[in-house]
Amino acid sequence: MPRVHIDKVVENLYVLRVDDDETKYFEALWYIPEGITYNSYVLTTRNGAVVFDSWKSRYADLFIESLKSVVDLRDIKHVVIHHTEPDHSGSIPKLLELTDKKPVLIGHPLAKALFTSFYNVEAEFRTVRDQEELLLGGKKLRFIHVPWLHWPDTMATYIEEEGVLLTCDAFGGYGVMPVLYDEETIVQQYLPYVRKYVVTVIGHYREHIVKNIEKIAGLKLSIKVIAPAHGLIWRNNPQTIINYYYKLGLASPIERKILVIYDSMYGFVERAINVVLSELKSRGFDVKTYAFTDNRQASIGDILSDAVDSVGIVIGASTYDGKLFPTMSTILRILIEKLNAEKPLLIINVSGWGKPIDESLKTLYESSKFKVVDLVGIKGLIQDNDIDRLKRSIDSLIKTLQ
Ligand SMILES: Cc1cc2nc3c(=O)[nH]c(=O)nc-3n(C[C@H](O)[C@H](O)[C@H](O)COP(=O)(O)O)c2cc1C
Ligand SMILES: [Fe+2]
Ligand SMILES: [Fe+2]
Repeated sequence: MPRVHIDKVVENLYVLRVDDDETKYFEALWYIPEGITYNSYVLTTRNGAVVFDSWKSRYADLFIESLKSVVDLRDIKHVVIHHTEPDHSGSIPKLLELTDKKPVLIGHPLAKALFTSFYNVEAEFRTVRDQEELLLGGKKLRFIHVPWLHWPDTMATYIEEEGVLLTCDAFGGYGVMPVLYDEETIVQQYLPYVRKYVVTVIGHYREHIVKNIEKIAGLKLSIKVIAPAHGLIWRNNPQTIINYYYKLGLASPIERKILVIYDSMYGFVERAINVVLSELKSRGFDVKTYAFTDNRQASIGDILSDAVDSVGIVIGASTYDGKLFPTMSTILRILIEKLNAEKPLLIINVSGWGKPIDESLKTLYESSKFKVVDLVGIKGLIQDNDIDRLKRSIDSLIKTLQ
């Protein structure tokens, strides 16, 4: 039985959180042993209640049961769909079914189209413009479009009286933390999960993180609580998560952090990488290494997470059937798709009989923001001249960082 948490965030606003430790691969893609939570919120007013988002459909019955513990279903006037992705909208059809479709759905015009196409449910749907307001039982709700966080349909709600900003995916993170709120002792442990979530889920729309945060800052709201639909609720220090997201949006590097990713079938690439690692470490770099070998398979989500705040990336890849090792070409493609940052890359390619694969790699990077500082081709076992060549390539990499 999944764990459910129900708590009063501020007066009249409840959080309903379910801890999902059953989903192994979020979006059927990202390995998340840390789990994920879905947070729905309920605002009660003297003139009825508003539900904001819901849970993944596998928890629909549990969601209804939890909802009933804070509100009479007949009192629900509106259901706000901040974002139609089924991890949040999945239990809404069940709620509509049990309430004879009485609550009016509220969302972005695109959310209306998506909701209809996903669930085939005809319900009253009020579409809202950016900054549109709704007054209900003495509460003022302001809907703020935050496109591409994470889909084009996405919006946030500002509850003026309480200074609460409900943000759905934005300011969320992976991880099932033992507490609901941003307690100081837990935040440092949680932020790496946020980083992994941001790059894997919203990474492709990174520039929209920056744009939307600047847009929200321009609205001069008096934000006391950031209440996302995944992970911790920020009510002690909401600015921490805003600043962290902003830095991730910019892919700001942590000084001296370098990411090394390699594959090695029989240890030849690994020998070259060992030279790189000892050279980088002796020059005072903090190196994060991920390997694909016959007994280790790194998680691509973790690689992306460590890529976003690295100053540079080193790739060690073998040649396989005339091309770059398949896993490594996938990783390079995903790095371009999800991160595409102005970071230097050093690529080392170890082959057997063929020439180094430089042309196809160059083409791959021509359209991206990454900058290939050097491409080192090695045949089989590294020789002394290869070691010299590798050291020179590290010089070139380091030069780009100054
Ligand atoms: C399954 C397989 C396919 C390979 N395909 C090629 C190839 O198409 N061209 C080439 O030059 N070398 C090829 N090689 C040789 C490797 O690229 C070379 O031995 C390299 O040193 C492997 O390094 P690693 O053992 O660290 O992965 C292949 C090796 C294997 C095992
Ligand atoms: Fe999403
Ligand atoms: Fe989500």
